[in-house]
Amino acid sequence: MDRTFVMVKPDGFARGLVGRIVARFEEKGFKLVDAKVMQISRELAERHYEHLKAKPFFDELVEFIISGPVFAMIWEGKDAIKNARSLIGVTNPSDALSGTIRGDFAIDVASNIIHGSDSDENADREIKLFFQ
Ligand code: RTP
Ligand code: MG
Repeated sequence: MDRTFVMVKPDGFARGLVGRIVARFEEKGFKLVDAKVMQISRELAERHYEHLKAKPFFDELVEFIISGPVFAMIWEGKDAIKNARSLIGVTNPSDALSGTIRGDFAIDVASNIIHGSDSDENADREIKLFFQ
């Protein structure tokens, strides 16, 4: 069975959305494998987002993800990466459909409340980064 890494970002955590987000993954049919509240170090943030290092918003992204506690999760299910990304919605909440997590709970791309791995390779990499 496939596994993916999902994280409620500091804005989602501070707004008290962890429970509702976990419920959506459970309702969809995913199985929760592991989860924890954590404060991300700058080093971990830079490794997690290393593929975005050249982007103009990289510094802002790192500052944001270390700005408060996050809720890190591993979810298991068929086509886990694709199914999780469908539940989450597209990157910019302005474009995310109603019924998706970003579509229902966020309005700004810089604080779009949740992260989900975008490939098998990144899911493996992120699960190792955050849970080992
Ligand atoms: P994520 O990694 O958080 O699940 O989001 P994603 O795959 O949909 O988007 P990605 O390209 O990986 O970008 C990571 C995060 O960077 C922020 N971002 N800001 N200011 C901007 O134009 C901009 N573009 C992306 C978003 O918070 C995005 O989730
Ligand atoms: Mg991404």
